[in-house]
Amino acid sequence: MPDGRKLAKERSHEPEKMSETANILAPHGKASESTQKAERGADAGFLWDFWYPAARSSAVQGRRLATAMLLEVPLVLGRTDAGKAFAMRDTCPHRGIPLSYGRFDGTNVECSYHGWKFDGCSGQCVEIPSLASQDKLKVDRIFAGHYPCEEHDGYLWVYMNAPGTLLPETIPAAPRLAAFSAKYKSTHLACDLPSHIDHGIIGLMDPAHGPFVHQSWFWRSQKSIHEKAKQFEPIPCGFRMSPHSPSSNSAPYQLLKKMTGAPVTTTIDFVLPNMRTEEIRSGKLWFSSLTTVTPVRRDLCRIDFLAAWNVPLPISIFRIFAKTFLRQDQETMIQQAEGLQHNPRLMLIDDADRPAKWYFALKANLLESRRTGAAMVHPMDGPVTLHWRS
Ligand code: FES
Ligand SMILES: [Fe+2]
Repeated sequence: MPDGRKLAKERSHEPEKMSETANILAPHGKASESTQKAERGADAGFLWDFWYPAARSSAVQGRRLATAMLLEVPLVLGRTDAGKAFAMRDTCPHRGIPLSYGRFDGTNVECSYHGWKFDGCSGQCVEIPSLASQDKLKVDRIFAGHYPCEEHDGYLWVYMNAPGTLLPETIPAAPRLAAFSAKYKSTHLACDLPSHIDHGIIGLMDPAHGPFVHQSWFWRSQKSIHEKAKQFEPIPCGFRMSPHSPSSNSAPYQLLKKMTGAPVTTTIDFVLPNMRTEEIRSGKLWFSSLTTVTPVRRDLCRIDFLAAWNVPLPISIFRIFAKTFLRQDQETMIQQAEGLQHNPRLMLIDDADRPAKWYFALKANLLESRRTGAAMVHPMDGPVTLHWRS
């Protein structure tokens, strides 16, 4: 028998390294059951009908099932013996027990309660052991909740179609990390943020926190703060910081320029629902990253950072720097969550917070276009130069 408590712990989605602040980060803890229900029913501000990274490929090994949560939907993830990754709602349609407690035979997931079996790749019920010879129940009309699942870049990506909707006939391909040569190194990092997805995302695109949150000997100090002008342009469902030469006060960029003798250019895109991509190129050398902020619950999101490069930089060294950065962001957002639980009034200022304003406008305009069926209106008229000091 598996240890129930251990399983329950493995299933929790609390942010790591946060035990000492868990009480203040869980404002729902003391709410009455009816308040909690009302909160769950209220719109959580998620964007449905998009791909989200659910888990690392390594979480699903052999016939082991993994669990994840996306947009407050519990998922059970697996990979068939034929190598196809799948995602089902982690709820048996019979009486609701998580299917992840059941067994997986390489094709079908068998519920641990009454042994109903579901095809992992379609969610279709294939067997109900209790049915007797005179039973007329059409087993194949029963489905467990099921979501499209693709595996690449070391992740299981799951397409979260809105509750109660049918999948569209064609769905777009899942996001991919760009690479510009046959040989390259790559790595990934992830961390939980105890925040609503909107705060996770505007934190990700915020240009003004760098000199304060990411002060490091290897990056920059508060003293290096100076005025910048960056051009942005609209792209479908997002915006692009137009190709530019990166901040001259950042040591890694200077080093890259010395190595190739060629100018360094950086292009940074943000695209709904949650994705920032960055390409840095100099001569034949390149660095590319894909960062997503994924809503787990309305009070918890997760940053996944994927990077690839052919720059002569060892993975171990890169990870030390990247981890430092991510930890600095995580610590700041844990502190921010402490303030946000009191529902303060907040401000977005020009120009440093303009990208955050565009994010909220993009999100609102997308929802409006989905509601009306009209084409989505882009909040930007055309290219615009923003000025800030950082
Ligand atoms: S609850 Fe799953 S088979 Fe009954
Ligand atoms: Fe940051």
